[in-house]
Amino acid sequence: MNIVVLYGTESGNSELIAQDLSDKINADGQSAEVFDLQDFEPESITPESFYIVVCSTHGDGELPNTAQDFFEKFSTFEGDLTGVRYAMFGLGDSFYEETYSQGSEHIDRRFTELGAERVGEYGRHDASSWDLPSDVALEWLPAVVAAADA
Ligand SMILES: Cc1cc2nc3c(=O)[nH]c(=O)nc-3n(C[C@H](O)[C@H](O)[C@H](O)COP(=O)(O)O)c2cc1C
Repeated sequence: MNIVVLYGTESGNSELIAQDLSDKINADGQSAEVFDLQDFEPESITPESFYIVVCSTHGDGELPNTAQDFFEKFSTFEGDLTGVRYAMFGLGDSFYEETYSQGSEHIDRRFTELGAERVGEYGRHDASSWDLPSDVALEWLPAVVAAADA
């Protein structure tokens, strides 16, 4: 199955994670491609691919810069995403108690509203932890890929 890794970022962490996830998927013999959400259109989402969305949180629980235009289009997108499966990896900082990791959740809710199905655990990286973002994401990945293949 082709895996499309989408990222939304402001300071580059989500992009690095997306690239590392894609490199790992390709090294393991599956096919993955990476897109910045600002270069991606909701119309491109099809049940033939599996989507991994990596997205941070900025402002006051809002989406990062490179996800904002996509989300505006996604909010008014009227397609039916029944049959589409995806996984979410959210970045945030638990220092922001009220809005921790909420940026990615805007995208997650819209996928679900449109009929898509999230598989695997909802992955998270907390910038207040000592964990390296890519280490957390690469640990999270195998169960998600297994769920995608199921
Ligand atoms: C100005 C600013 C606002 C932020 N607001 C939030 C927030 O509301 N909630 C949250 O969980 N994290 C927040 N963060 C933390 C980022 O989500 C975190 O640093 C993340 O790793 C950034 O990833 P990125 O480089 O892909 O944008 C904020 C960071 C900055 C610099």
